Amino acid sequence: MITLHPLTNRKPSFLYSVTSGPLNKKILKPPKPYHKTKPYPTITIQSVLQYNRKPELAGETPRVVVITSGKGGVGKTTTTANVGLSLARLGFSVVAIDADVGLRNLDLLLGLENRVNYTVVEVLNGDCRLDQALVRDKRWSNFELLCISKPRSKLPIGFGGKALVWLVDALKDRQEGCPDFILIDCPAGIDAGFITAITPANEAVLVTTPDITSLRDADRVTGLLECDGIRDIKMIVNRVRTDMIKGEDMMSVLDVQEMLGLALLGVIPEDSEVIRSTNRGFPLVLNKPPTLAGLAFEQAAWRLVEQDSMKAVVLEEEPKKRGFFSFFGRIECWTRKFQYISYLGSVC
Ligand SMILES: Nc1ncnc2c1ncn2[C@@H]1O[C@H](COP(=O)(O)OP(=O)(O)OP(=O)(O)O)[C@@H](O)[C@H]1O
Ligand SMILES: [Mg+2]
Repeated sequence: MITLHPLTNRKPSFLYSVTSGPLNKKILKPPKPYHKTKPYPTITIQSVLQYNRKPELAGETPRVVVITSGKGGVGKTTTTANVGLSLARLGFSVVAIDADVGLRNLDLLLGLENRVNYTVVEVLNGDCRLDQALVRDKRWSNFELLCISKPRSKLPIGFGGKALVWLVDALKDRQEGCPDFILIDCPAGIDAGFITAITPANEAVLVTTPDITSLRDADRVTGLLECDGIRDIKMIVNRVRTDMIKGEDMMSVLDVQEMLGLALLGVIPEDSEVIRSTNRGFPLVLNKPPTLAGLAFEQAAWRLVEQDSMKAVVLEEEPKKRGFFSFFGRIECWTRKFQYISYLGSVC
């Protein structure tokens, strides 16, 4: 007998898993498994990406994208850092603005905390030039960080959305040329800081986790973004755990998508490497060998460039092989990782 999902009161969608029916098996059947095209030891992140080409930039530049959520701690800053660096690695020029007033941490995630001497507040006060406040990344010179204020400082009176619009215009008119992407890391909540962050944006990435509190906030934020004229909203579902979805303790990505009705940019699994990389100030997407979450962020960046989206499907993880065949089991595990990423990063 099929029991209803305790959170959504619907038939749990993990039942439509890859092993549950011939239809899904057909949809998910890979055209060419990764291990048949390249041997295991020569794997690089670039070769893992499903496309052997540079993504084509859709839309007018600069693409001003706000990364928001409503609820705090769901992964906005992690997404900004990883998607931003992925874009830079794909060859696009990126400026990431940390719009979290007084509580900034994007600089920490990028390992650039010691290089931030000036912030937007000083630029607007006329104490420094804009290029002095832009911090170039150590690894990718086409990635720059701009912090809105110093830690623990408050928003100056009169500083609002218009100031950030002015800033974006100033970035467009820079001598070095207009950046391809301006990513704005939005603070949690829907107060003044949120309004300031979304004002200059023309598209949004909504980060949510598959829990009811985060979804409720995400839904509210979607309404506010639409009121502000931002119609291009895509979502990233972060911290997804297949084991919990199977145990009916977590909503599946299909459920999340049905509740919010937004195009899906990426699905990021819960991964302890994210916390490790946060603490080291070394973004996950630069990890070698690549991790599942890192690859999923890369894929999300790719979709962002091409204004593409993905479909949520459910893929059951296969148990790892052990014992005498453990070596082959490891290879298969890697292969499955690549299939997983090629197929939408399809943990849902
Ligand atoms: N996929 C993931 N797996 C495991 N941990 C994660 C994942 N994504 C984010 N985290 C962890 O969650 C915590 C919060 O992430 P982050 O700072 O990016 O959230 P935020 O939305 O920017 O928070 P705030 O609202 O405070 O700005 C961090 O410790 C981060 O390492
Ligand atoms: Mg943050």
